[in-house]
Amino acid sequence: MLNTLSPLTEDLAGQSYPSPHYLQTQRRIHSLIDRYIAVEKLHDRLQDLPIQFANPQPRPWKPIDWLTINRNQIIGLDAEVFLSILIGAMDTEAPIRGYTQTSRQYLEKLHPQMARFVGGTVGKDGELLELGLWEKEERQHTPALIKVYTQLTGEKITPKLRTVRSYLPTNDPNEDLYRHGLHRIATEYGATCLYIWLIAHTTGALQDVLEELAQDEINHMTKFWGFGVWTFPDTGLMRIGRTLIKTRSQNYQRNNLMRTLRRMMGTLNWNAWSLTNKTTLLFTFTYTMHRLWSWNNTLTPEYLQNLFETN
Ligand SMILES: [Fe+2]
Ligand SMILES: [Fe+2]
Repeated sequence: MLNTLSPLTEDLAGQSYPSPHYLQTQRRIHSLIDRYIAVEKLHDRLQDLPIQFANPQPRPWKPIDWLTINRNQIIGLDAEVFLSILIGAMDTEAPIRGYTQTSRQYLEKLHPQMARFVGGTVGKDGELLELGLWEKEERQHTPALIKVYTQLTGEKITPKLRTVRSYLPTNDPNEDLYRHGLHRIATEYGATCLYIWLIAHTTGALQDVLEELAQDEINHMTKFWGFGVWTFPDTGLMRIGRTLIKTRSQNYQRNNLMRTLRRMMGTLNWNAWSLTNKTTLLFTFTYTMHRLWSWNNTLTPEYLQNLFETN
């Protein structure tokens, strides 16, 4: 087909355009979600969990040509906005050790295997004997984002060291785990959508880095989600919604999704985004959730029982 605006090349998101319009960006996001968040892929990622319980093995990254990363690989997005997103992402990713140890404590008594998967094992005096697989995979993210930032700006950067909400148990460990787990899933989902959206706005080696980040987030989100459905089978949408947005409770200090979102929007420099940027990101969130929901509906109690009981 002859077309004066013929696309130059193909990349991970399909056809790439030097300055894509709205629909072309939507098409790229669409094709990424079809490729990385296909229902069969999600099943694979979940079925992998009992295997990782038995023999934890980090997913290897493909080789990345770091030195070729440059600003021309950012497409349809202002370079300064891209850089603030990078900073927002690294501030959210770090400090991973805090996150993994808080999660391990919520899981320790109820699900020792999952506790080990996220936070490894600790000795009598609380010293870390072995890293969790989640931590092994996640701890590569902040350095990768720093490397990208340095490559794009020639400047060094250190992420802000936020204090992580620590383990704050109530007298209901089940409810504690539910609340904590739901926020973990929400964070992995947020990271997944953001990285997928960034893959659609990049090409070349820059895109390769974001692909690795996205694949890790999809992997963890799927495992946490599936495990959550298995552990808390009778959870209605109402309870999910209530738990995520509840602000007036004694648990206020623990987690508040709205507060997290507001903080993230600030660090991601949301106000400087173009209308197309904002719309396509919201589309990414919606379409990804739609896909996850189709997959969720296939997670029957029998399927999950088979998966986790054989272990
Ligand atoms: Fe991450
Ligand atoms: Fe993550």
